[in-house]
Amino acid sequence: MLNKLTVFSAIQPTGNLTIGNYIGALRQWKNIQNKYFCIFSIADLHSLTIYQKPNILNKNILDTLAIFLACGINPSKNIIFIQSHVPQHTQLSWILNYFTYFGELKRMIQFKEKILLLNNNKINIGLFNYPVLMAADILLYQANKIPVGKDQIQHIEMVRNIAIRFNSIYGKIFTIPEKIISSNGSCIMSLLNPLKKMSKSDLNSNNIISLFDSNDIIVKKINNAVTDSNIPPNITYDKIHKPGISNLLSILSNITNNSIQNLEIEFKGKIYSDLKKSVIEHLCIFLNKFRKKYYNYRENKKLLDNIIINGSNQAQKKAKVMLNKVNNIIGLY
Ligand code: TRP
Repeated sequence: MLNKLTVFSAIQPTGNLTIGNYIGALRQWKNIQNKYFCIFSIADLHSLTIYQKPNILNKNILDTLAIFLACGINPSKNIIFIQSHVPQHTQLSWILNYFTYFGELKRMIQFKEKILLLNNNKINIGLFNYPVLMAADILLYQANKIPVGKDQIQHIEMVRNIAIRFNSIYGKIFTIPEKIISSNGSCIMSLLNPLKKMSKSDLNSNNIISLFDSNDIIVKKINNAVTDSNIPPNITYDKIHKPGISNLLSILSNITNNSIQNLEIEFKGKIYSDLKKSVIEHLCIFLNKFRKKYYNYRENKKLLDNIIINGSNQAQKKAKVMLNKVNNIIGLY
């Protein structure tokens, strides 16, 4: 274990995770858990950038943990913990604020996009500071590799800059993290607008397949998914000219572990409804299996609480060492 590289990643407990989150993040986390020493967090503090109904947030945190487990992320191989249970995250992030420039944060694409939706005097500092808390998440554990979606690339760049800046003053304290971006095929797109990413916060639920959609809903949503009007229809992977078909192929490939090339051969000469039928069938099988595991974990409150306590103890042990080191080096007494 000692010579394995450390991976850190986190997901916000905002509920309604989609197959896009599963394919793009959770499945990848499961697959790397043997190769790396992994630390996975439920980023509850990050989710507070927008108002969360207290009882829903509370429930979503446990739901997210049960989802991790149902996806095969193993708490005895990895550290799984709730961000707010390890106070060193907010403590380090306060210090890192002094190594982060206003101008840099102002340029963050996600910040710029999010404030467009807000009234000018309702932009909270937590939203602005969001990447600094991410920096603390990552730097506390000397993480080497950070699996993230494309939307987080700029934040990881920012984290690297903060770490490099700190190190240039105080010496080699922080490990400079690198991002891991999942391969192209694992970015699942919106069903009705396959040029944009499938997002759990999409206001139109017909764009997404939630991990908790019933079979009937899956049938309806996939049948409505955008394809194209090529004559004759051809089922080939071409993200630029055939984004809808490519997205369906990508979903099918990812949940069946069958390569796109194999699927193209299998569907040669067939029509789009054949492809949709197959996507529906496999999604239903996959999600029914997933949900069975999920409810098993979700109903076992004792097990979840144990994992939470254990995870936060393990995370705190590491976080304390690092925070002490930082406090010492900057001269706090
Ligand atoms: N901001 C990330 C997201 O919304 C979640 C996150 C929080 C994260 N802290 C992190 C991801 C640290 C990677 C590393 O997707």
